Amino acid sequence: MGLKPMARFRDKVAVVTGAGRGIGLEIAKAFAAEGGKVAVVSRSEGSCGSAAEAINADFPGMAKAYAVDVADHEAVQAMGKEIIADFGTVNILVNNAGVTRDGLLMRMKDSDWDEVLDTNLKGAFNTVKAFQRPMMKAEDPRIINISSVIGLIGNAGQANYAASKAGLIGFTKSVARELAGRKVTCNAIAPGFIATDMTDELNDAQKEGIVANIPLKEMGNTADIAALTLFLASAEARYITGQVVASDGGMTM
Ligand SMILES: NC(=O)c1ccc[n+]([C@@H]2O[C@H](COP(=O)([O-])OP(=O)(O)OC[C@H]3O[C@@H](n4cnc5c(N)ncnc54)[C@H](O)[C@@H]3O)[C@@H](O)[C@H]2O)c1
Repeated sequence: MGLKPMARFRDKVAVVTGAGRGIGLEIAKAFAAEGGKVAVVSRSEGSCGSAAEAINADFPGMAKAYAVDVADHEAVQAMGKEIIADFGTVNILVNNAGVTRDGLLMRMKDSDWDEVLDTNLKGAFNTVKAFQRPMMKAEDPRIINISSVIGLIGNAGQANYAASKAGLIGFTKSVARELAGRKVTCNAIAPGFIATDMTDELNDAQKEGIVANIPLKEMGNTADIAALTLFLASAEARYITGQVVASDGGMTM
């Protein structure tokens, strides 16, 4: 596999969290395929290591792995310094790391609430704190937060997840306003129902029920989200900031 002819991200550095698998891995691969260098961040050495190895097999020298829990503020600041030392700059930050701990409120433990909010929402705060200064000086600086349609419409059994993803939208708009003067754009993507390990936890009947309510009558795939992420990260998207763009087969129209 070689570089795609249109190498939109040549000389750019992208940090992608939760890039060990699923949507994050697809985004990391897509940046490398268009000439970008990628810091592949995930919680375990094993997952980010094998993801970076797979990317380097196709695009030698384009990826490096960093194992960190995005919810750990100090650890993320230390990782930020390491990434800047390794790559010299960061142009693009994609906050994709996310978890679910589903359950009706009656049964939801406070640890289920904390874990989801700490990873999905505080995780983005932690990475923006780590990279905002260098990004203000970088060329075409872009922050992209992977929210969810659940943050827009809510879901029974996902109060913690919906709150984290809705919070991420408020965070996105505030960061967009704060950093606009430095030409850093910040946007959120709201994926609908995307086929990954996360959604594989649902049984067939649950999946069929969800698909029946999607106007396009099919699940999305990781490439759909990667394509949108790369567009928002590109130089062409320079005039788009503070937006929430859904890729959801029409679920939230
Ligand atoms: N799959 C969907 O249908 C869907 C829909 C809407 C939004 N999303 C969002 O897209 C993102 C990716 O989802 P996915 O389906 O690929 O999930 P996934 O579970 O397949 O992958 C999540 C990745 O995040 C990493 N991660 C989790 N907690 C972390 C932490 N504390 N620190 C560092 N890394 C951590 C995991 O190691 C993994 O690599 C998530 O934020 C999710 O909420 C997914």
